[in-house]
Formats: sequence, structure tokens, C-alpha cells
Amino acid sequence: VNNSSGLLGFPKYKIANIKDIQNSNCPVYFFAYPLTNEPCFLVDFSKLNGQTDVQFKNPYYGQFRINSNFPNIKGVGPKGAICAFSAICVHLGCQLPAQVLVSSPDVPGLNPSTTILHCPCHGSMYKLDEGGIVVGGPAPRPLPIVLLEYDNTTGDIYAIGTNAPYFSKTRPTSNLIYDPDYSYQIPSNPACTTG
Ligand code: FES
Repeated sequence: VNNSSGLLGFPKYKIANIKDIQNSNCPVYFFAYPLTNEPCFLVDFSKLNGQTDVQFKNPYYGQFRINSNFPNIKGVGPKGAICAFSAICVHLGCQLPAQVLVSSPDVPGLNPSTTILHCPCHGSMYKLDEGGIVVGGPAPRPLPIVLLEYDNTTGDIYAIGTNAPYFSKTRPTSNLIYDPDYSYQIPSNPACTTG
């Protein structure tokens, strides 16, 4: 994962420990995956709006070989409430302000009550508790999910892949999600602000 120019496959990589999430009041925790300059975020739905045992259909199921084992996505952790998404908008690659908690889904940021994440660039809206499906704006497809594994003996949370193409410069541009010419910053944690 210590590579910003390209990978052949998805590594299994420790991205956090459950204590990092539990010790924070913020429902969002940023990490980089699969490359060191690709921002993603964990969201703890139990903190965002009280949901536990989160489960949703994989919006990309059946479309790509890489996610053929994941018809459904389940939250991980003791409450089954932690999921992870890319923080790069699939429309034109703006960084999504998942750390900005907002009171209206019409305002850019993440609305805790609806779980809608609203891109500031052209208004794409993704509903996180339904797997990042598009509920508004020009995004042509759902927000990629980062597949997680949880070790309940150590509390470590691992990223093991994604449910959708998450391509960098070495991959076909027709499937480009990651924009290699855009400079992304991984926000430091705890990441929450209010907008
Ligand atoms: Fe997000 Fe255009 S880049 S809506």
C-alpha cells in the first residue's frame, strides 16, 4: 500500500483498530486505500444515527469479477455498524467532505439522519446506508465500498478490497475513478466538523 503509482491487486491492510473508533465522538474515520494518496473513510452507523447490524445489497454485485463473493455488504465491529467507502466522487473525482456533518441533505457534507453524502462540486448525492447508491446529481454509479474484515480478538480492522473498479493511471481511463492528476489529502482523525 506504500505506493502512489499503481497496484496489481488489492492488498489486505490494517486501517484502524476498534479503539480508534470507539474513543472518538466522530462517526467518521479517514484512511488511505489502496494507495497512500487515495482517501477513504470508515463510517460507524451506530454513532452516525444509531443503526446496528447494518446490511445492504452490494450495488455492484454481478458487475465485476472482483466482488463476485459479496452479494451483500455487512457492517463489521462489535455492533455490526462499521462500513467503509471511497472518499472520491465517481462523477469527476472531487474529494467528498464526509467529515463535515450537516443538518440538511441539500448542503455539501454528510447528513446523519438521512446518511446522504453530498458532493460539493456538482451535487451528486450518495445514500450510505443503502450501499452508496446515487440519490441525486450527475454521478453515473454508486460510491465504491471498501470491503472490510474485523479481527475480534485484537480489534483490528482490515481493508481487503473494494466492490468496484478503483483504478489509477495504469488502468483503462474509461473506468477511471481515481484521478491521478488531482491532489488528494487524507484528513487527520478525528475528522468531524460541522457545516
Ligand atoms: Fe462530485 Fe461532480 S465531482 S458531483
